[in-house]
Amino acid sequence: MKKILLTVLFASVSLIAADSVPAKKTGAFLPIDGAALYNKNCAVCHGEDGTKLPSENASTLAGRDPVRLALRIRAYRDQDSRVGTFTMHKTSRVMYDQTSKLSDKQISALARYISGLYVD
Ligand code: HEC
Repeated sequence: MKKILLTVLFASVSLIAADSVPAKKTGAFLPIDGAALYNKNCAVCHGEDGTKLPSENASTLAGRDPVRLALRIRAYRDQDSRVGTFTMHKTSRVMYDQTSKLSDKQISALARYISGLYVD
């Protein structure tokens, strides 16, 4: 009986160990890298420093309040027919397309990063 218990215990420990390997590799437990997300998905239109204007009415992103930024980005993501238009400035649905696959955590990380960008 003792031997069986030990075997079961050992087997579950190695299962746990085996489980955590791919998690580490995919970074599932690592903090989200807001800078990397921004540079990959947003910088092309909003500029690496967050000061480029993607449309006539849009404002600079750099240095803005992170909570308001996160709410704004979530608003773009969550818009549907019940909420209204796809955009804030009513130019196009481009920001809906840019944000529709982001999680709340990714949006928070993005907002924190953008808020920390330097403005003159
Ligand atoms: C293909 C170009 C493009 C990309 C890529 C893009 N944006 Fe935008 N963004 C726009 C445009 C165009 C607007 C103005 C949209 C509107 O009419 O509301 C905008 C508006 C915004 C605004 C509101 C700005 C304001 O005036 O207050 C925020 C915040 C924002 N984008 C964040 C992001 C973030 C974060 C990403 C990356 C996940 C991103 N954008 C990627 C083009 C882009």
